[in-house]
Amino acid sequence: MHKVIVLDDLSQEGLDLLKAAPGFEYEVRTGLKGADLREALGQFDGAICRSGVKLTPDVLEGLKRLKAVVRAGVGTDNIDKAAATRAGVVVMNTPAGNTLSTAEHTITLLLAMSRNVAPAYQSLCEGRWDRKHYMGSQVAGKTLGIVGLGRIGLAVAERALALEMKVIGYDPFLSKERAQELGIELVDTVAAMLPDVDYLTVHTPLTDETRNLIDVPQLEIMKTGVRLVNCARGGIYNEAALVQGLESGKIAGVALDVYVEEPCTDSPLFGMPGVLCTPHLGASTEEAQTQVAVEAVGLLTDYLANGTIRHA
Ligand code: NAD
Ligand code: MLT
Repeated sequence: MHKVIVLDDLSQEGLDLLKAAPGFEYEVRTGLKGADLREALGQFDGAICRSGVKLTPDVLEGLKRLKAVVRAGVGTDNIDKAAATRAGVVVMNTPAGNTLSTAEHTITLLLAMSRNVAPAYQSLCEGRWDRKHYMGSQVAGKTLGIVGLGRIGLAVAERALALEMKVIGYDPFLSKERAQELGIELVDTVAAMLPDVDYLTVHTPLTDETRNLIDVPQLEIMKTGVRLVNCARGGIYNEAALVQGLESGKIAGVALDVYVEEPCTDSPLFGMPGVLCTPHLGASTEEAQTQVAVEAVGLLTDYLANGTIRHA
């Protein structure tokens, strides 16, 4: 019997597949950390997680039985890959299952921020009919800058073009020809697009190159009244620079789904005019969670039963 531990909430469809897999048994044990997590992992052949559990070196070092961890989602930043490799643990992810939901969330934030949806509804809840206060901004005809034109960035571009926005993008791995076919104007550096964009959205992983990609100097060369969205990873925009930019009036709007520290329930950004935030909900749809769970179970069972590695 291959034993699998499920470390974060996983959709029922994924659990049903695990239950039906011949030669497999599983346990759901969420909320584990530290010594309890390490002790639990030592008793299983494979693990499935989302972003909640933190698989740090002290948890992974020296594990003898564990062979693979699959992340039901894209970012594997909660798993120390070097420590996993040292322990002989293969790390895989499900790169495509939540692409469309996250792109839709990006567009949701962009539109809702532009039309003051959250504060306008709040004003009604507080008994005010305040039409003048919530003048918005139309997105058609505006320029959207996209940094990172991978799965989600391209899906956002497609949707923004359908909203009649002009799309400028930067991604070192996309060719000019492909961008042109898609209707995206590709530039050679992030800085080259910044003076022209009315909206900016980022869809890269958080790396040494993308950390603080947008900070005070980058904001200085942007238009006054720019609006920024981040549904990728916290830290790509410098959060202190966002506060400063909102206070000075340089930035008209900030919409964030992700934060430097998560969970994040206390930020100077929360409650500032022009700010709209959600608690890392990009992939939180029934459809995306079913897809990533089903794919994660397939990857893990294939690896443990047949040694097949995909998306490592
Ligand atoms: P992807 O790998 O398909 O695309 C990432 C793109 O970023 C690639 O095309 C890559 O070339 C580009 N890139 C890397 N470094 C860059 C740089 N310095 N400058 C410009 N481009 C750069 O990944 P994806 O599925 O599109 O995911 C994008 C991000 O969204 C990831 O950080 C992922 O973890 C995050 N994500 C968040 C949610 C959420 O719930 N908010 C859901 C899914 C994914
Ligand atoms: C991801 O990287 O897939 C997202 O952050 C969504 C999630 O947390 O599952």
